Amino acid sequence: MILVTGGAGHLGANLVRRLIADGHGGDIRALYRPASDNRALDGLPIELVAGDLRDLESLRAAVRGCDLVYHCAAKISTLAGSEREIFDCNVVGTRHLLLAAREAGAKKVVVSGSFSAVGHHLSRPSDESVPFYPFALAMPYEWTKALVEMECWRAAAAGLETVVATSCAIMGPHDYKPSRMGETLIAYAHRKLPAYIPGGFEFVSARDIVEGHILAMEKGRSGEKYIISTRYVTLDELMQIFQEVTGTPKPRFRLPPPLMAGIAAVASPIMSRFFPRRTQRLTPGAIRLLRMGRRADHGKAERDLGFRPTSMEEAVTLAYADFLRRGLIERPRRSVAFVDPYPAPKGKPAVEAAPSAGQGPAKVNGAPEVQA
Ligand SMILES: NC(=O)c1ccc[n+]([C@@H]2O[C@H](COP(=O)([O-])OP(=O)(O)OC[C@H]3O[C@@H](n4cnc5c(N)ncnc54)[C@H](OP(=O)(O)O)[C@@H]3O)[C@@H](O)[C@H]2O)c1
Repeated sequence: MILVTGGAGHLGANLVRRLIADGHGGDIRALYRPASDNRALDGLPIELVAGDLRDLESLRAAVRGCDLVYHCAAKISTLAGSEREIFDCNVVGTRHLLLAAREAGAKKVVVSGSFSAVGHHLSRPSDESVPFYPFALAMPYEWTKALVEMECWRAAAAGLETVVATSCAIMGPHDYKPSRMGETLIAYAHRKLPAYIPGGFEFVSARDIVEGHILAMEKGRSGEKYIISTRYVTLDELMQIFQEVTGTPKPRFRLPPPLMAGIAAVASPIMSRFFPRRTQRLTPGAIRLLRMGRRADHGKAERDLGFRPTSMEEAVTLAYADFLRRGLIERPRRSVAFVDPYPAPKGKPAVEAAPSAGQGPAKVNGAPEVQA
């Protein structure tokens, strides 16, 4: 049995579909929270188990009988103000899960890491050897992802095979919530992105980060982390790719980053206070990350795991085509057919999430729902 935490999230939704395509359909169990948006899991031939990373007993029930565990769940936030929740979900939650996995006799755990937990070089791309620097300005989320790694090394030292697959900014299909990058693409296609700020970031295609997790499970050495990235993309390049994929002209204005950083520093706390449900695209943390221009070196994953990155153009095309087919982009300028990167195994029907199951517990096709 394979447990996937965060299966309704962007990475987890892709990973679960890849595992099904690889023929593991009947052996997958996904941890989910009943009150959340779980549309990504609707209609999939997998077992669901309700639980929360902060609740150790629910994880003990979830991991029972599982050999392999992919721990993709995390609370992601570039906003200030929910430090306790971020810490409890990410750090305490990972500690809980690794303990439960060890008790249950799981063979191996792959934990999704973050490039924000890798240190920064001004002169060259960072590899796994660059330590997180605790005295630089960092968001609570970034701190927790560094601490998550400590939990992983502790578990590895205690005898549980634990590997970290480090993700960069994910772009790709099956983005149900949708993610910050997904929302940016949707806004772009609706011509609601009048301007952007120059900068850049290391991106990873959803297909590549899934492949990185599978390879880490197959070949990764316990106590090691592997950076999985597709390539560094500047915002200028990203806008060009968006233009080519969507057929919508890119914004003409580039805003000075220091000015935007100042505006975001004032606006973000006000937005958080008065419009807590509204997504903030340019938070001070997000602007800082874009301005840093951090590049990743994924050479270790290439050498040790045989990882080969695909393309960001393909990742954006897949994301766009998937948003189109799910009706999230109205009056598109360009129509692109969705070609699922995780085709159904031979002789099995294609895996397809129902279009609008909404919130609440997902239904499982032909499999019992396990309540922890
Ligand atoms: N997205 C990126 O660009 C990026 C970059 C670097 C690293 N990563 C890492 O990659 C992993 C997956 O990210 P993602 O993009 O898939 O994030 P996501 O779309 O936000 O999904 C996160 C998943 O974790 C679940 N989760 C959060 N707190 C939980 C809790 N207390 N108990 C149980 N489940 C909980 C969420 O469920 P709910 O819906 O119930 O909250 C959701 O299903 C994370 O470890 C993240 O740190 C992502």
